[in-house]
Amino acid sequence: MILDQNLDKILIIDFGSQFTQLIARRIRELGVFSEIVSHKKINFKQINNSVKGIILSGGPLNVYEINKYSFDNKIVNKGVPILGICFGHQILSKLNGGKVKQSRHREFGSAYIYKKRESLLIKNFFKNKKFVDVWMSHADQVSKLPKNFDVVASSENSKFAIIENRFRNFYGVQFHPEVTHTENGKIIIKNFIFLICRIKKNWSAKNQKIKLINNVRNKVGDNKVICALSGGVDSSVVAQLLNKAIGKKLYCIFVNTGLLRKNEEKQVIKTFKKKLKMNLIYVNAEKEFIKKLKNVSDPEKKRKIIGNLFIKIFERYAKRIKNVKFLAQGTLYPDLIESKSVTGSNTSKIKSHHNVGGLPKKMKLKLVEPLKFLFKDEVRKLGLELNLSKEIIQRHPFPGPGLAIRMPGNITKEKINILKEADFIFIKSLKDNGLYNKIWQAYAALLPVKTVGVMGDNRTYEYLCLLRAITSEDGMTADFYDFKKSFIQMISNKIVNSIRGINRVVYDITSKPPSTIELE
Ligand code: XMP
Repeated sequence: MILDQNLDKILIIDFGSQFTQLIARRIRELGVFSEIVSHKKINFKQINNSVKGIILSGGPLNVYEINKYSFDNKIVNKGVPILGICFGHQILSKLNGGKVKQSRHREFGSAYIYKKRESLLIKNFFKNKKFVDVWMSHADQVSKLPKNFDVVASSENSKFAIIENRFRNFYGVQFHPEVTHTENGKIIIKNFIFLICRIKKNWSAKNQKIKLINNVRNKVGDNKVICALSGGVDSSVVAQLLNKAIGKKLYCIFVNTGLLRKNEEKQVIKTFKKKLKMNLIYVNAEKEFIKKLKNVSDPEKKRKIIGNLFIKIFERYAKRIKNVKFLAQGTLYPDLIESKSVTGSNTSKIKSHHNVGGLPKKMKLKLVEPLKFLFKDEVRKLGLELNLSKEIIQRHPFPGPGLAIRMPGNITKEKINILKEADFIFIKSLKDNGLYNKIWQAYAALLPVKTVGVMGDNRTYEYLCLLRAITSEDGMTADFYDFKKSFIQMISNKIVNSIRGINRVVYDITSKPPSTIELE
């Protein structure tokens, strides 16, 4: 289903490609709104005037397995410009009388394409070069050109690498212009949306800010709204947006689970209560959480206990505010997209994620989800537009269950304190050395193992600290960050020398998959 019926958009019909979200992000980076819909959920009647162009994504399917993918063919006869990418290029070709068959040479990775004729789609794409390096990922290919189509570019193995029917505004590319490995890939997308679809720019953080503030005001009216503030990026942006929209009608509840990073509660109070003057209800539930978690070491049990207790406490305090009608939540666009990527793991199945999802029904609240159209990078831009500090906006993600899942085994106050200090040293060193913003997420963990060490002339028998730092696009996959030996050694020395309780430090070099980012 199309979520926003009014705003002009480029509609991306998803056939399960791992790059579909990237296509949407590229378009939005160019200042144009785009939405993703599953090929199973869209029919030609839903293509209204707000759809100025359609992109058919890639996918793992085969155009001849017609039963496996449902697609309303009438969509291509709506008179809307279409760009097919990889599998989308093959469907578009087949629907127009072309043929697709298994390639003799599968193409995965880099390939050179050369120009056969001029086209609006490739304006400034080749620049002065004969060849452009593009990224291919396909086993099938178009083997017979569809009727009334021309070849715009070819590669050694794909004669029909770019094709067009310029009278109907149909374009097909065998490669992936949305990935950064394709040289000038963004130019193809830019040409399609501006020169072919002729859509106007309508998407910026500034526009969003005004529109979202108005939407919240219209939706909420004079009613009160509550919001669970964690200090993370999403809930901070939601809170500040609502603060701008409805001021004192917003009540933020901040539950300190005792499992937060060092000084986090102080920062949240300073920013939201003192600086931004919000109605902030601070709940120190540290003791309650530690009591409930006593002797619990099973990861899923920990997560469930923390999630349930959080909701219970939140509800307890929320009830004290009379006549609340709405709950504000930081749901993001990737949470709403119906067809998830095929290769991206569904993390919520592997671990039970901590959220306040059960609350609205239980408390009979309506939801306000102002970020539900935005990707994470857009939320960050919006946050800056709302005058939140860079320190909040550029913060690494932090899981709801907090330090509990960075401490395999049982949880004690002593261990939490040791871990807070180690994490603080690590993160501060990253910031002091200009590395924090190059890393997607970093943290220290405390392993439930003691090992023998020697300090001065004394034997020590203390905990093992694990450091994790990863690069990632969206947290679905991740690689470890390659620190210089001298840097990681410096951190290890600092931690072991200044924290009683840790005498050994290890660095986690596994990627995701097979590991996950958090330990539990
Ligand atoms: P994993 O460990 O599943 O983590 O590879 C992927 C990303 O999700 C974060 N994470 C959570 N975030 N509630 C959250 O809000 C949770 O329960 C939760 N568990 C993991 C994790 O920090 C990483 O960024």
